[in-house]
Order: sequence, then C-alpha cells, then structure tokens
Amino acid sequence: MKSIRYLAFFWVTTLLACSNPEQPSETKVQQTPKQTQIDNAKDYHSFANPDEVKVSHIDLDLTADFEKHQLIGTATLTYQKVDEQSETLILDTRGLTILEVTAGNVPLAFELQKEDPNLGSALRITLPKSGNQVTINYHTSKEASGAQWLTPEQTAGKQFPFLFTQAQAVHARSFIPLQDSPQVRVTYTATIRTPEELLAVMSAANDPDTERDGVYEFNMPQPIPSYLIALAIGDLHFKAMGERTGVYAEPSILDAAAKEFEDTESMLEATEKTYGPYSWDRYDLLILPPSFPFGGMENPRLSFITPTVIAGDKSLVSLIAHELAHSWSGNTVTNATWRDLWLNEGFTTYLTYRIMEMIYGTDRYNMEAVLGYQDLEADIAALPDNDEILAIDLRGRNPDDVFSNIPYEKGALFLREIEQKIGRDNFDKFLLEYFNHFAFESITTDQFVNYLDKTLLTTYADVLDKERIQQWIFEPGIPEGAPVPESDAFSKVDTARNAWLEGSLSAKQVDTQGWTVHQWLYFLNNMPDELNESQLSALDDAFQLTASKNNEIAHSWLLIAVKNQYKPAYERLHSYLVNIGRNKLVKPLYKELSKTVEGKAFAKRAFEEAKPGYHPLTVRVNKKFVE
Ligand code: BES
Ligand code: ZN
Repeated sequence: MKSIRYLAFFWVTTLLACSNPEQPSETKVQQTPKQTQIDNAKDYHSFANPDEVKVSHIDLDLTADFEKHQLIGTATLTYQKVDEQSETLILDTRGLTILEVTAGNVPLAFELQKEDPNLGSALRITLPKSGNQVTINYHTSKEASGAQWLTPEQTAGKQFPFLFTQAQAVHARSFIPLQDSPQVRVTYTATIRTPEELLAVMSAANDPDTERDGVYEFNMPQPIPSYLIALAIGDLHFKAMGERTGVYAEPSILDAAAKEFEDTESMLEATEKTYGPYSWDRYDLLILPPSFPFGGMENPRLSFITPTVIAGDKSLVSLIAHELAHSWSGNTVTNATWRDLWLNEGFTTYLTYRIMEMIYGTDRYNMEAVLGYQDLEADIAALPDNDEILAIDLRGRNPDDVFSNIPYEKGALFLREIEQKIGRDNFDKFLLEYFNHFAFESITTDQFVNYLDKTLLTTYADVLDKERIQQWIFEPGIPEGAPVPESDAFSKVDTARNAWLEGSLSAKQVDTQGWTVHQWLYFLNNMPDELNESQLSALDDAFQLTASKNNEIAHSWLLIAVKNQYKPAYERLHSYLVNIGRNKLVKPLYKELSKTVEGKAFAKRAFEEAKPGYHPLTVRVNKKFVE
C-alpha cells in the first residue's frame, strides 16, 4: 500500500506542478509523508489493504521443524471484498518464503515487494474473479523476528526443545502472512504438527487432556487482532488452579507456578464483578523459559508469562493481574493502531492497580502505585517530548524501539484523575459501559475522546473539562495537579534510608523486620546515584543483596552496583545477564554498563555469551549498548 500511496503522491504533486507553469520549481510541494498531517485512523505499521479487501478468518496447517527452526505449511485466508472493484489482496510478511498461492488449487499470481527494515515486505496477491479464500504455501525464516526456537539446554527441563511466538506489535507477519494490523480482527483455526513427545498450545481453546500425539487442533471462535495470535510448543504439562484457571509449564516448575499464581481465579472473579463478565471462556497461564522477552503477553485465553516472577511469595503477581486485565482492555476493546497503545496499556495498568487492591488490599496498592509513579517520573525526565505523549506519533519508527512507561503509567494516572473527580463507583460504571460499547472492536484515540465527550464530559461537566483531557492525551509531561500516589509503608523506609545515609544507623541496625519486596525496591530505587565501596559492602553484608533470589530486587541492586562499579556483584551481574532475557530486566543494566569503557567491555562479554539464548527482540534492543 505504501508504494501505491507514494506513487499517488508523486503523481499528484507532479500534476500540480505541471498545471501551474508559473510556479517556480523550488516551491513545488516538497512535503514528505513524514511532514504531512497524521491520519489518525491509518495504521502506519501495516502494508495491508483492509479498506479494500478484509480478511476475516485464518486457517493454519503448520509443521514445527525443530531441526530447521522453521514453521512450514499453509495459511488459508477467508476474505470479503469491501470494495467490489478491488482485485488485489495485500498482506504483511517478514522474512517469509512464499512457495505458492492458490485458490481452489488454481495458482494465483503474487508479488513479494521490497523489504522495509521495520515493517517487512508487502505480499500482493491477484485475486480470482470469484471465491473468498486463498491458500498460501510458505515457510518462516530461521531468524523470524516473532519466534524463538530454544535448544533443550535453554529450557527448565534441559531435555526437549521449545518454541514460542511473540507477535505484538508487528511480528505476527514473521510467522503468518496476514493483514498484520490491530484494526483487522480474525477468527482462526489451526492444525499444528510437532514432534510426538511435545505439546502445542495456542491463544485459543486448549484441551489439557488432549492426546499427546504430535497433532493438535485449535479454534479461536472470537475475532481477535493479529498481534494476539500465539503458539508455543514444548514439554508442557497442565495443572488446574481453579474452575476456569490453570497453568501450563514444564514439569519441574509446574507446582511452583501453580502455587505462586493461585490467586488468579479470585482476580478473575473480582475483575468480572467490577467490569463485567469475562468474555473468553477459560483463563490459563503459560510459563515460558527465561528468555521470554516480556514480563507477560496477554494472548487470549492463555497469557504468556516470564518465569522471572515466580518469587515464592506472590510479590510479583501484579503481572498476572495485568495480563488478565487485558482480557477487557486490549483483547475485548483493542487499540486500532500502535499510536493508540495507551488505550490498551493505560487502561490495563489502571485495572491492574484496582485488581491488586481488591485482592491484596490498599497498602499493597499504594506501594505499587508509588513505584509505578516513580518509573513514570524517571521516563519523563529522560524522554524527548514527543515520546511523552499518550497518542504518540510513531510514523517511520519501529514500535519495539519506543517501549516506555508513558502509555502504561501516564495512561493509568489520567484515568485515576478522572476516577477521583467523578467518584470511583461512577467511573467503574463508565468503564463497564465502555467495554460493552466497543466490545470486539478496535478503536482510535479519537473515537475514545468522542465517546468521552458524549458520556462523562456531558454528565460530569461540572468537574471535567475538555482542555484538561486534551492536555493529558496530546501533550508531553504530567499535567500539573495530577494525582500523586502515596504510601505510608514507604515513609518508614525513607526514614531508615536517611538514617543510614547520614550515618546515624549502621546497615545492620536498620530495622527491616517484616519489609515487603516492595519496600525493599523502594529502599534501593531511591538511593543516591553515588555510594562508596564501604557503603555498598555494608548494605550487601547486612542484607545479602547480591544473593537476592527476587529478580526485581536483584535488578535494582545490580543497577546500583553498576553505577558505582561495585565489583563483588559482577559475577552475579554476569549470570543475571546471561540467564535472563526479559528486556525490562536486562536493558537498564546494559545501558548503564555502556557508560564506561570498562563497563562496556564487561557488557560485551556477557552479551556475546547470552546472545545465542536471547530472543531476537532482546538482541536488537540491546546490541547498540555493546557496539
Ligand atoms: N502487551 C504487553 C507487552 C507488549 C507491549 C509487547 C507492547 C509488545 C508491545 C504486556 O501486556 C505488558 O504490558 N507486559 C509488561 C507487564 C508489566 C507492565 C506488568 C511487561 O512485559 O513488562
Ligand atoms: Zn500490557
């Protein structure tokens, strides 16, 4: 589509110039697409043409070849012509080898266009005169950006290989040729062929009792955006946690995972009570190997979860609340383009806090809200203005490069402000209606703003105003007077830290009895940037921080260690970087290391060792720090 648009653009400007011979040539319209007015409804990250021909169902028949590291097979796409005249179906692909395209066994003409480094290649298929299905025979590349093939050594059990996909934001196209835009919703069915001893699971109906015979059938009967199509294959076993909830994991971590996340069923019930019935039948979790590049991914019916949050004390389970909440904000009401990501992540972060409060109480909520707010403040201090805007302009950029706390925490804070202004019960009612109103639709920021205009801005005109809403959504920074989360449980942590920093208490004298993981995080995250060697070893001695088994605490401590070149922690730092691929945990460490020559050399060694085990996204995002 892009190339056609460029062509059309060229044609119009040429025509304009020709029809106005007096105009000096310098004033010929020199606009590049980048400088033109943004088209709010347009997905700048897809070549597809759903406004002409729209795909509504995908049927996959794929074999997972663990030797070649390829998915091989067919995708049959059912489509409807939106524009009767249209003769071309344009799909997104990335690194795919297209062997043949057919309709009812008749070969169709197709053309794979030049690759864009961020977006892949458009696949243009000439449609037959009649019919509504095409079958694409293809295989993925070994380096598919949305798939990771793991050797047995990279799994918990060390005996079987593993494959998982991660489609959000623009990587579904690297394992399926499709219209890879969140504006397009499809139902899907799939037959997945694997080595016999492995189990395949998908973001669809999964049957834990299915015969393990290497052929697995799936059905996702509800229309979902492409970024929610997901597949994993491994030595997976299932354990129920509640009536509608359970865990899939490798056997050696199954029990620990089921225990850690045993509150999932209560979270599901609490969320339903406040925001309306869960629409997706079951809610299960899949625990991935540590190279999974995210904390979690809200694949419908089956959230994909990093094992790094299995801490033994449920301290990091807000991640589950978050992925579950996406079942409402994201999977039911979906962002129409990646510019609108905050509609997914901001609403979900707001819901996460609310769920955590319902299940674990207000103290826990307050602590998590303060930590989230501090993450937001740090990003606001560091990011350029454009990147602080909720409805961000992402044209020409790779969504993977723009990941920050803005859509999450600024989005949630915006909703929190509305909640405080109109009252919690009223806001809950609004959200419930919003989820119903746009259920199974993909919406833009502008659609949300219009909806707000007709609802809350009308009903609560005395306390809400349009300008303030515009400021939150379209301007950088945090608007003045926004709510600031506070936690009583953190006051004593501040007191303790200050007393220790002033020297009135030694580290061992600090009363940390009963501190929660969150209090430890707050203690560490708010240390001054510079600490001396004896301060660091006193802390480490008193609290065994280098040896912490909690991956978040270890992360905060290692960051302090890097900032101050505290060498006794570097062995742990090395193994942390090599064994964990979750980008949020490793990227800040690489970034900090890259600031000194010695640090960079250390980072480079760790990166080279870790690289074969890292997901393509973790490699891409961090390699700049070691080059
Ligand atoms: N959907 C996101 C992950 C994502 C966002 C992938 C954008 C690609 C592009 C997921 O729900 C998420 O937000 N994960 C967070 C969880 C955290 C905020 C609790 C993560 O992985 O850190
Ligand atoms: Zn999320």
